[in-house]
Amino acid sequence: MLQSQTVPPETTEADPAFLADVLDGLSQRKKAIPARWFYDRRGSELFEEITALPEYYPTRTERALLAAHSGDVGRIAGKGRAVVEFGSGSSVKTPLLLSQVAPSAYVPIDISGDFLRESAAALSGRFPDLTVLPVEANFMHPVRLPAEIAGLPKLGFFPGSTIGNLVPRSGVNLLRDMIETMGVGSMLLIGMDQVKDTDILIGAYDDPAGITAAFNLNLLVRINRELDGDIPIDAFKHRAIWNDTWSRIEMHLAATRDVGFMIAGRHFEMGADETIHTENSHKYTPRSGRQLLAAGGWTPLREWSDDKGMFSLILAEARPEPIAP
Ligand code: AVI
Repeated sequence: MLQSQTVPPETTEADPAFLADVLDGLSQRKKAIPARWFYDRRGSELFEEITALPEYYPTRTERALLAAHSGDVGRIAGKGRAVVEFGSGSSVKTPLLLSQVAPSAYVPIDISGDFLRESAAALSGRFPDLTVLPVEANFMHPVRLPAEIAGLPKLGFFPGSTIGNLVPRSGVNLLRDMIETMGVGSMLLIGMDQVKDTDILIGAYDDPAGITAAFNLNLLVRINRELDGDIPIDAFKHRAIWNDTWSRIEMHLAATRDVGFMIAGRHFEMGADETIHTENSHKYTPRSGRQLLAAGGWTPLREWSDDKGMFSLILAEARPEPIAP
């Protein structure tokens, strides 16, 4: 999950960063709002519902891969690493890994302190002998890890294909920042969703029950509540499209008619069918996944996929880049 995919306390106060992103994003010729603002309390609940949808295959496929292959990860990585989870959120996948890799410590990193402490406490209950050292930080930048794990080898954990919510340039920057955080010689277990039949992809992002539509439209509800907006929600429709050039699903909010609205005292107009781009979810081939990792300084060691090739888990090692020949 991206950093704000956690449940912050519900607020009606304007977050200046949210306000700036919305005002800037709606002032562009191609309107766009960063996906991280989906995750207020309602958005986080809706995301949890998405992960249980029959059409949304990534969560259950990755969970099955972790159940089947965490033992292999433990054997390759060796015992005693400190497991560092980037954007720990409410991850139900973590115990599958921790139970197999015999970690010396578990370091969940998340921007939401309350949420972090709650999930850290739950994990401590489940693994009473494990040292859990939560770090409240934005993992989109290098993070200072606790001094207690300074000398220990690290295993990063970044599940969910959250990397796919970043454009390649930002994904590479994040992968490089992870090396700065954990050090050369660290390992990373990362989930990457795979390119597949377009109908399956669209179904996963435009489900018949309308949960993903509600998740997308909730962004407008949040803007109205927190940024003093009067956007007519019924003038917008959820749209999920496959962008083959960029190998990604895009989510948009499309105006169903000409519409005008106010946000924080500013007036905006949109024409019928004009959209606000709200999310990218990049999909990889085995090769493009490896290339992204390599560009970020990570050498793939092992890759596991389900028999239909829907989703992959890759174990990679942070190695200094070889000097170009
Ligand atoms: C969190 N992230 C990996 C999800 C995805 O599949 O890109 C967010 C999501 N958006 C719509 N459905 C799920």
